[in-house]
Amino acid sequence: MTRPRADLDVSSVFLDPAAFPGDDPLSWNALFGDDGPVVLEIGSGKGLFLANAAQARPDHRFFGIEIAKKYARLAAERVVKAGLSNVRLWPGDAGHLMAKRVVPGSLREVHVYFPDPWWKKRHRKRRVFNEKLVDSIAKALTPGGELHVATDVEEYFGVIRELVGADTRFTEIDPPALGDPEHDHDYLTNFERKYRIEGRPVYRSSYRLQEAVTAVS
Ligand SMILES: C[S@@+](CC[C@H](N)C(=O)[O-])C[C@H]1O[C@@H](n2cnc3c(N)ncnc32)[C@H](O)[C@@H]1O
Repeated sequence: MTRPRADLDVSSVFLDPAAFPGDDPLSWNALFGDDGPVVLEIGSGKGLFLANAAQARPDHRFFGIEIAKKYARLAAERVVKAGLSNVRLWPGDAGHLMAKRVVPGSLREVHVYFPDPWWKKRHRKRRVFNEKLVDSIAKALTPGGELHVATDVEEYFGVIRELVGADTRFTEIDPPALGDPEHDHDYLTNFERKYRIEGRPVYRSSYRLQEAVTAVS
């Protein structure tokens, strides 16, 4: 397994939550020192999506939340090595951050790829994708903003579709097309690469938050 490299300075990318105590809303401009639409990924793992997407869309700002500090650090290393300045990694719990600290209507996109399935029934409550998260995402997105999801677990996919489908603020849209990978890095995420190479099914869905409703007088 890849180990974090102590000699690499990731301080411009890897955020220290201790520097942002309390439950006050986070300021994207303060975190990035720049302007642009914000794309947030929940459970970024080793950061392949963030790095590829940030490279492809330099005018967007990418914010990854990853509860496992080691993976958040590895993702930050990938970003630093790629010389990207439009990514930040937050080592912490996405449920808390989304519910408490993300400014309503401030995100252009939310991505959740291969969330841990927690197979045992008694552990299911640990799943990151639940009714509360869907509500937080709906509040955090800007009108017309998008939610993109992928998983290899058919049962979890059904649960996610039911949860988002039950929220009338969302409309299902076609997921963006995936290219044919030529290199190791031409995948959506590390887990997508693993499962596609193994020939396992990958279930994907995408949603758009309703546009702002204009009041008619
Ligand atoms: C199966 S991995 C997928 C990683 C990556 N998205 C990919 O597709 O390669 C799920 C990731 O979600 C992270 N995770 C689980 N619960 C989380 C939470 N509450 N907040 C943030 N990250 C979480 C895990 O630490 C893990 O890195």
